[in-house]
Amino acid sequence: MYGAQRYRWRAPKNTVIASPFSPGYIDSYTSKGSGTMSNNYGDYQLGVYLQGMMGHQPDFPFELNDVEQQAREALDPRAYWYVAGGAGAGETVRRNRRAFARWQLTPRMLSDVSTRDHRVTLFGETFNAPLLLGPVGVQEIIHPQAELAVARAAKSLGVPMVLSTLSSYPLEAVAETLGDSPKWFQLYWPGDPALATSLVHRAERAGYTAIVVTLDTKLMGWREKDLQTAYLPFLEGKGIANYVTDPVFCDALELPPASDMQSAIGHWAQIYADASQTWDHLEALRNATTLPIVLKGILHPDDAQKAMDHGVDGIIVSNHGGRQVDGAIGALNALPEIVDKVPNMPVLFDSGIRHGADMVKALALGAKAVLLGRPYVYGLAVDGENGVKHVVQRLLADFDVTMALIGVAKSGDLCRAHVTREDALPG
Ligand SMILES: Cc1cc2nc3c(=O)[nH]c(=O)nc-3n(C[C@H](O)[C@H](O)[C@H](O)COP(=O)(O)O)c2cc1C
Repeated sequence: MYGAQRYRWRAPKNTVIASPFSPGYIDSYTSKGSGTMSNNYGDYQLGVYLQGMMGHQPDFPFELNDVEQQAREALDPRAYWYVAGGAGAGETVRRNRRAFARWQLTPRMLSDVSTRDHRVTLFGETFNAPLLLGPVGVQEIIHPQAELAVARAAKSLGVPMVLSTLSSYPLEAVAETLGDSPKWFQLYWPGDPALATSLVHRAERAGYTAIVVTLDTKLMGWREKDLQTAYLPFLEGKGIANYVTDPVFCDALELPPASDMQSAIGHWAQIYADASQTWDHLEALRNATTLPIVLKGILHPDDAQKAMDHGVDGIIVSNHGGRQVDGAIGALNALPEIVDKVPNMPVLFDSGIRHGADMVKALALGAKAVLLGRPYVYGLAVDGENGVKHVVQRLLADFDVTMALIGVAKSGDLCRAHVTREDALPG
């Protein structure tokens, strides 16, 4: 089932053009090579065309719809729909994409874009590109290597990974796989403050450098595809590795999970979220850690202001990929007003990022960085670590090329002048 489509390139002999596996090319991801800090990710395409000259055709799709289609063929339909499905009628899933189409780029000519720089500094750490792999839970339903495969791909490309609380491998194992590669931990904020503190402290000890608190899942969204097959993987004991390895969680059980998994699952279902939490509860979390706290799921400028007032360090504008509130605002539509409301707070973005132009638009509208969601999961389904790498490489290359072609050499220079809203266009 897995690995049917291997993505393997052979570097042509005696070539000076960067190929996808030439040391120079890899260095453009990791910044370990020349020390120039250039991130000309777009050179990837030169390698692809050169391989074509040598008679090698890509055996992994470049069009994202085709990657998704291959994932669909590789996966159990229940797993596919768990990823692809949205809440309700899927209106917000579609709206997330439509929101990007409302903004257009006007390329500008004759600026020096020979060397591109995509570095971004967030909470004191500098990343090579304004892209993180977003938190996606229960990846064992996609691939047996799950988050470990994603971690290996993230590490090899130097792209930060945000690990979900609902991971299939414990956070310590994923941290070990990531080594010194950048990593954040996403917290599903449990009702039991002692458990929340325990998870946060484990993440700290394991080397995660920020805590992303997801706010938009007090209840699970109304997901008709999953309801139709009565499929919730957590109830099969999947995606709860961080709980069954947690001392506070286990202390609340009569028998250890290894002896009575059903009771552990039942306890998890009761405590994993707390619908009574309010802004005031943030103080306890704030006091539990010195790590930066980033709130995920903000869609209203007043909530962004409240986040600021409650001493958090950053926010992620997101509607959870349309999986929670059908009818919710397209996430990109929420971004500009939020950035204007909290100009001094780092604002990140997800929900609908598919192409390089999407990244350019989100950054131009004020996001400091974006998170990738479903696309890398489709890559994982198709070919594990290699699939994730391919999806991320194609996105970064597309982003780099698009940015250069509109006349911008540094992603930090992208601003509103680079985008025009459709209804403001002349003609
Ligand atoms: C299958 C799946 C599982 C997810 N699990 C989590 C999670 O555990 N924690 C979280 O904060 N967000 C989770 N998300 C939401 C993503 O982090 C992100 O907000 C969303 O995928 C963005 O939408 P997009 O993938 O359509 O771009 C999940 C999304 C999907 C598709």
